[in-house]
This record gives sequence, structure tokens and C-alpha cells, in this order.
Amino acid sequence: MSDTIQKYKDYVMTGFMKSVTPIVVDHASGAIVTDVNGREYLDCFSGISVVNAGHNNPEVIAAAKAQMDKLVHCASYVYHAQPVADLAEKMAQIAPRGLTKTFFGNGGAEAIEGALKLARLFTGKHEFIALHASFHGRSWGALSITGNWGRKKRGGPYAPGVAFAPAPYSYRSLWRDDPEECGRQCARAIGEVVRFATSNDVAAFIAEPVMGEGGIIVPPPNYFKEVKKVLDQYGILFIADEVQSGFARTGKMFAIEHFGVVPDILVTAKGIADGFPLSAFTARPEIAAAYKPGDHLSTFGGNPVSCAASLANIRYMERENLPTRARETGDYAMSKLRELQKQNPLIGDVRGLGLMIGVELVKDEKLTPAAAEAETLRDAMLRQGVLVGVGGIYGNVVRFQPPLVITRQQIDHAISVFAAALQEVAQPATV
Ligand SMILES: Cc1ncc(COP(=O)(O)O)c(C=O)c1O
Repeated sequence: MSDTIQKYKDYVMTGFMKSVTPIVVDHASGAIVTDVNGREYLDCFSGISVVNAGHNNPEVIAAAKAQMDKLVHCASYVYHAQPVADLAEKMAQIAPRGLTKTFFGNGGAEAIEGALKLARLFTGKHEFIALHASFHGRSWGALSITGNWGRKKRGGPYAPGVAFAPAPYSYRSLWRDDPEECGRQCARAIGEVVRFATSNDVAAFIAEPVMGEGGIIVPPPNYFKEVKKVLDQYGILFIADEVQSGFARTGKMFAIEHFGVVPDILVTAKGIADGFPLSAFTARPEIAAAYKPGDHLSTFGGNPVSCAASLANIRYMERENLPTRARETGDYAMSKLRELQKQNPLIGDVRGLGLMIGVELVKDEKLTPAAAEAETLRDAMLRQGVLVGVGGIYGNVVRFQPPLVITRQQIDHAISVFAAALQEVAQPATV
């Protein structure tokens, strides 16, 4: 056993993982990860959907190195730091209309907490509505608005004042063949939740525009427009959690742009700085003004190196047109996966936007989740040198979320390895 793996066993807390993948990663570039033995893996998971502009993107690394030579930390809310100012200005340019003021933190959960707090301060209201199957992070507030006991177990009871509405998960809804009706009904249900499960003191509704950990659930196109009508009726803010779906991943800079509505607060992390730890929430100035002295801060938040890396990352995305590239490559990958679906009853659903793709595996026509098969498939792909994720509320969704710079040849390779792995795990057809 390698020294690193042994030290993990002895000294790193990993009890929350079924197992840590037995690879010791040494270096990475683009969509390729290389282990300490020199073996290369094609990365279709991007370190949980983070390195959108590719591993060790040279422009991002150069910007970070240049910043490191000048300043690593100064406490970016106690003093002014140029990379923070420049990145905030850039965020104002790329965020949905009117969202021009940003707070920078370090990770997704921290940004979620800050956004929730800001929504309460601005509205003077205290409750939240979130979605079934959602995931918003591991801190207590973020878990309180997470709609999945798989993530919440052994941590309750959670914060009061959170009510949950059904996820717009067409594939497992009553309206599998009519996504528009699914969108309408799930949005309508939010009104019912306000009436019957809150005290009409709701500060905000929070949702992932494409649900990541829940199993790459893409809401029907009409969903958020219908939701917005309900929210406006009750004066409820809309917080879009784009921690996973943001930064070109879905074929737009932010996934909510696909749905024709503008959130009140946008939460981002993961792909924001191509691997450097950084998160943000961005709001309209009048909402941001609800913070008064003493209300918020983060020692490391707005780290100058992470902010410089992020600015280079976003400039790269814009210049290389990564959103379009993600959409085109994603459409290509999904068309190939749908071909495979025709011959494989194990593939229940292929869905996604851009390069945020989920393949839901089912055992039969009742959609019995094929979770063990999904894990076996991931392990078989790993043996063939391709990294994918497995997730979803039932653990039966294979996740393809590669760096957006992945080439078509690399996609072809990943899908041929997926097809071979599918053969390995395919059960005799039970339908
Ligand atoms: C949608 C969403 N929100 C929040 C988080 C939490 O982010 P972090 O792990 O950086 O705290 C995640 C992480 O997977 C996520 O997918």
C-alpha cells in the first residue's frame, strides 16, 4: 500500500466516505489526471464539478502565481485588495441583470449561509422554502434547507422554519410524459407549502437551477417562471444556488439563464476559480444594503490569490466561449448516451444541460433504482481509466461533469468505456 494511502488511513478523517478512491493523484492538466505511478485517467467529474476551465489551466495558474508574489492575505474586508475589487466588478458584469454587489467567502456552504442571512435581514422575515432532493452544503444552516435525509441523517433536529416543496423531477413525477405539467404542478405546490406549512413569514425560496447531488435534475423549461409568479404573490425572494451549475457548466454562464427569470441572490462556488477555494453571493444593491456593521465577515473570504485566479478563469471562459463549448459538447455526449439507452434497459433516463449530465440507471419499468449497478459501473470505468461520479437521491445516477475543455475524442473514449462497463454490469433484462 502506498505511503499516502496508509497515512490517510492513520491520520485523515474519512469515516464519512464509504471508501476513498484508491488513486493518489499527483498532477493534472486539462481533462487528464495523473497518479503517482504515472497512470493517466480521463476526468469526467472535475473534482466534483470544479475545474470547469480544465485542471491547472495555465492562465489561471499564472494569475495566481503573480498574485502570490505580491500578496497572499490581508483580510479583504478590513483592507482593500485589488483582485477583490476587480473580481467583484467582473461578477457584476456576468451575473443576471441587476445583481451587482458580491460577498466573497471560501466554500459553497459558507456562501449559502451568508445568502440566507442576507435574505432574512432584507425582508425582515424568517422562514425558508427549499426543495425535496436538494443539497446546499454541510453546515447546519445549509443542511437545514437540504431536502435529503441521506445528507442530514444523524444531524437533526435542524433549524425550524424550513418547509419543503416537491422537486421538479419529471422522470419520477406523475407527469413523466408531460414535463410542462410537472413544471406547473411543482410550482403550484410552492403556493400550497406557503399556505399550509409556513406562518407566512417566508424570506426566501432557495433552489438549484439544475439539481446536482439530487441526481442532475433539470427542471422543465416553464418551472422557474411559474415559481416566480408564486414568489411574487407572497413577496418571497428567490435565491439561486449555482454552486454546482454555475460558470459555464450548463451551456450558459449561469444555469438560471436557461429559465428566463432573474434571481434576487445568486450563490456561487466550485467553478468560480478553477480549483482555488472561493465562493460568492451576489445581490441587488438594495438587498446588499441590508447588511449593517457587524452583521457579516470572513477572515479568509476574498482571498487575493483565489480572486486573481477567478478573474483569469472567467476571462478565459469568456474568450474561449466555454458556455457554447459546454453546450455543444454536452449535446454531443447526450446524443451518444441516448443511442446507448435504446439498447440498454438499465438506462432509464439521460438528462442534463451542457456538460452537467446524469444517466439514471433503473432495474425495471417501475424505475426501481439500480444503485449497486451504478457503483459497479463507476468502479469498472475507473479500472479502465475514466473517472465519473455517482449520485442522486437513490444513488443510481452516473454523473458526467467533465472539465468543459474536454475534446470530442475524449468524450468518445469516455462513452465507449461507459458502454463496455454497462455490458459488464447489465443484468438479464427484467422488463
Ligand atoms: C448545489 C450545491 N450547493 C452547495 C454545495 C456546498 O458546497 P461546498 O462543498 O463548497 O461547501 C454544493 C456542494 O456539492 C452543491 O452542489
